[in-house]
Amino acid sequence: MKKIDKIFSKTKSMSLDLYLEKVLYDKNVGYYQKKNPFGIKGDYITAPNISNIFCEMIAIWVVSFWENLKKPKNLSFVELGPGNGDFCLVLLKTLKNFPEVFDSINIMLYEKSEKLKKIQKKRIISQKVSWIENLKKIKKGPVIFFGNEFLDALPIKQFKKINNSVFERYVNFKKNRVNFVFKKAIKKQVNKLKNYKLLRKDGIIEYPEYGFKELDIVCKKIKKLNGGVLFIDYGYQVKKNINTLQSIIKHRFNDINKNIGNADITSLVNFALYKEYFDSNDLFVENVISQSEFLQKMGIIERARIVSNKMNSSDKSNLNLRVKRLIDPKMMGESFKVIFAKNKKCNFSLAFK
Ligand SMILES: C[S@@+](CC[C@H](N)C(=O)[O-])C[C@H]1O[C@@H](n2cnc3c(N)ncnc32)[C@H](O)[C@@H]1O
Repeated sequence: MKKIDKIFSKTKSMSLDLYLEKVLYDKNVGYYQKKNPFGIKGDYITAPNISNIFCEMIAIWVVSFWENLKKPKNLSFVELGPGNGDFCLVLLKTLKNFPEVFDSINIMLYEKSEKLKKIQKKRIISQKVSWIENLKKIKKGPVIFFGNEFLDALPIKQFKKINNSVFERYVNFKKNRVNFVFKKAIKKQVNKLKNYKLLRKDGIIEYPEYGFKELDIVCKKIKKLNGGVLFIDYGYQVKKNINTLQSIIKHRFNDINKNIGNADITSLVNFALYKEYFDSNDLFVENVISQSEFLQKMGIIERARIVSNKMNSSDKSNLNLRVKRLIDPKMMGESFKVIFAKNKKCNFSLAFK
């Protein structure tokens, strides 16, 4: 707890999203500044860590998008939150089988954690790949943005609506512990919520203000340069207004007040809200589909069959279990969803129709 009080040294209390930003990314305290959270030895496992085949399906989707865009000579591909770099490595390997796309693509990695950036730079050595600090730096298009489990990592604000009054959740540090308190929300903030259908029901309302600020640039780039953005994440489309913040350490749920700075904190993604957000930013949004549907339409089962032909029986059953984990509705298949927003003049809809 000693270090935690440092983030409160200049202020008695802070909004929930600022607090999350600090416990995840502060130079001294932040979880992502000191930990490599991925894999069995880490805290959680993501789809790219589960199987290369997941990444191949996205790579093939990118190749098809490039064809649909009339094979541009300069395609910018931006991965948002590349984690340990697993996806990017498979993307590079797969695209080498498509030399025209490989020659045309420029891969940019957008990563907030210095620790993860170091890991990525050590693992990914390719002239095709560069790291960008600011999304405004993307100049050449068309541009495809992709993020797996990026949205759930963005800090959220929380509000509580009781009858017609709205309160915002703040965090303070008293008696050597972190406390959550609600304060009357300021009018400017309530007006932002009114832009969405969020205030229709009472209960806890979650709003990713920081994320929207970053996505504003993504939307502008897509409108200017053509292209689209694909996000895969866990979340819901119809939500009861409840608190979805969750903390994970060593693959188990953790009390959000414990292991601060040593445990990941995420929230479930409100896909209906993101759809509204992209709509209001003048992009066309395809119907949100499940990860299972997306991967099966992209041919994951056929690909697994081809790859497993050359495998011994133990590798084959290992691969089948991994694919099952990705597409089974009781595992990741339904809880993970896919959203694709694109420039309105673009007619690419592979896997969504
Ligand atoms: C849950 S991890 C997912 C990593 C990877 N995409 C995967 O699926 O394995 C979230 C990633 O997003 C990064 N991240 C979170 N917020 C970010 C932001 N605002 N800007 C850039 N990267 C961010 C994290 O540091 C981490 O690399």
